[in-house]
Amino acid sequence: MYPHFEYRIEIMELIESVDLLHGYLASAAEQGRTTGFVPTMGALHEGHLSLVRQCKAENDICVVSIFVNPTQFNNKEDLIKYPRNLGKDMALLEKEGVDFIFAPSVEEIYPEPDTRQFDFGQLDKVMEGQFRPGHFNGVAQVVSRLFDIVKPGKAYFGQKDFQQLAIIVAMVEQLKLPVQIISMPIVREANRLAMSSRNERLNPQQREVAANIYKTLLDSKTSMYPNLSVQDTINKVIETINSFDDLNVEYFEIVNGATLQPIHEWEETSFKVGCIAVFCGDVRLIDNIIYYSRK
Ligand code: PAF
Repeated sequence: MYPHFEYRIEIMELIESVDLLHGYLASAAEQGRTTGFVPTMGALHEGHLSLVRQCKAENDICVVSIFVNPTQFNNKEDLIKYPRNLGKDMALLEKEGVDFIFAPSVEEIYPEPDTRQFDFGQLDKVMEGQFRPGHFNGVAQVVSRLFDIVKPGKAYFGQKDFQQLAIIVAMVEQLKLPVQIISMPIVREANRLAMSSRNERLNPQQREVAANIYKTLLDSKTSMYPNLSVQDTINKVIETINSFDDLNVEYFEIVNGATLQPIHEWEETSFKVGCIAVFCGDVRLIDNIIYYSRK
């Protein structure tokens, strides 16, 4: 049993212990209060804050986790370089009126190594899954663990990580978790580069050149689709982005937004999405564009 705490949040609490958070949230739930949850790896930006604002608007209690999850990094270097700034993140969240920041240690989240292997069929075999083996298994491990701790009614994720969203929805269905996944639109910088914690690692010139990723995607929607074939659109997008110094496309695929499988003809599905990963110097950026969705 978890300790029982009187529910009385006057200031934002920074919590590192699973038991302590459980205690607060169990007591709030007993009082009929709803909990919304925004999982993050910190290095917060306006994209995260848009999730927080929606969470605040739709729930009595807003919990934000900050945890750089080692099991989702297939590249050690990437894990080491991942930006961390708890002080700055706390100040931003305090301003938004968040109730709890949950910032646990690795030992707190994984007292034992998590050996679970999820089966997402073809969903995690493509795109990010192909280039970052094991990444989505790690995401599913940590998100299911966090859901088990926070037990939110609603959890908020950004559409920039389009494939991650699909995986989390599939995981929630597989594990029959009583949580509603809310997906929120991509937030962009003034130059329309998708906001990402990794943008912090770009120098000013790279930030400018990286704007060409979305500019090219947008151009493919307005002037290529549906006049060019799917394959010609893919080729043109890759060629255009690679023509900029410092940009190197890792993949660009046009997929069925529900199954994430590549399409070969525009008519194959009504939900068509272009997903891209690009290296800008050594910083890996992802973005996407919805060509058409009947949803
Ligand atoms: O999108 C992220 O920041 C992470 O993948 C998540 C969902 C917080 C899990 O670590």
